[in-house]
Amino acid sequence: MRYVSLFSGGGGLDLGFEAAGFEPAVCIDHDAVACETLRSNRPAWNVICEDIRDFDAKPYAGADVVVGGPPCQGFSTAGKGDPNDPRNFLWREYMRVVEEVKPRAIVLENVSALAHRRNGDHLTGIMSTLEEQGYDFAYGVLNAADYGVPQARRRLIVIGVQDGQASLPSPTTQGAPLTVWDAIADLVDHKADPALNHVPNRHAKHVAERWALLGPGEVDPNYRRARLDPNKPSLTIRAGGGYGPNGDHLAGFHPPIHPTLPRQLTVREAARIQSFPDDWVLSGPKTIQGRQIGNAVPVKLGEAIAMHVAKLLSRTAHLPETDGSLF
Ligand SMILES: C[S@@+](CC[C@H](N)C(=O)[O-])C[C@H]1O[C@@H](n2cnc3c(N)ncnc32)[C@H](O)[C@@H]1O
Repeated sequence: MRYVSLFSGGGGLDLGFEAAGFEPAVCIDHDAVACETLRSNRPAWNVICEDIRDFDAKPYAGADVVVGGPPCQGFSTAGKGDPNDPRNFLWREYMRVVEEVKPRAIVLENVSALAHRRNGDHLTGIMSTLEEQGYDFAYGVLNAADYGVPQARRRLIVIGVQDGQASLPSPTTQGAPLTVWDAIADLVDHKADPALNHVPNRHAKHVAERWALLGPGEVDPNYRRARLDPNKPSLTIRAGGGYGPNGDHLAGFHPPIHPTLPRQLTVREAARIQSFPDDWVLSGPKTIQGRQIGNAVPVKLGEAIAMHVAKLLSRTAHLPETDGSLF
């Protein structure tokens, strides 16, 4: 089955769809480095690097699924997003593409804050547009830790289908969730390796000394990030730096502190926690590699969603055509 991938970023959701047997008809993102990541890892994929507002989706009409996570900076985090941030309205472009492609199913991913009342107009807009276009849909906040990902990451997922009844995937994690240590323990003694995106940052001596004293889960008051507990799923790996004391958005990649070493996670450690395979190499400088990872849908969550969509589509694929004459 073929799908159209919007806002593809560093490819987390795409890798999930690939693992479930889908092929991308096109991947689109306006970020040149993200496009480079997709192209260098999958030269056969049709990657278009342009603003979605300029993207003509008509050549892809008839693809089975449209997937994507419109940017969410304006929605994110309790009360700090700017409601007038123009990025908040890119979901309309997503819906324009759905209208042009007319897929049998859609998957829309976003931060759980999209479901908050203050962002309700956008969610209502998404739902009423899906209804107008004839989709039955289901939505809810899924925790990646329930889908084989060593991370407690809550994301809003909307699944819509043209025929039949939409639903969300059931958890796939068997028994206890995977932990940080399951994901990254073997990298502790791994030497720095740019080809693996595993190059630890160097920190000032006084910073490393302060971090060495932090217990599992404890937050460094200056860095405003926690040291990970090795025996639990990770805290959410974020793309940006979150919000500073004045509510301003901090640029850069500010990952959590390593569970046993006095340093930040490397990009590869963060990628492991996002369930990316080691042979998927992130392009660009370290902060941009990290941003692609922090922005991504965890691969295993993407795979569970894709498998579920495949199941929903297979249920309606072979229904006998009727002209209504039986009635
Ligand atoms: C949340 S990330 C998507 C991550 C991706 N789904 C994954 O799993 O790796 C959103 C992406 O939207 C892209 N984007 C933002 N505004 C865009 C626009 N106007 N046109 C095209 N892409 C855009 C960003 O460059 C970013 O890569």
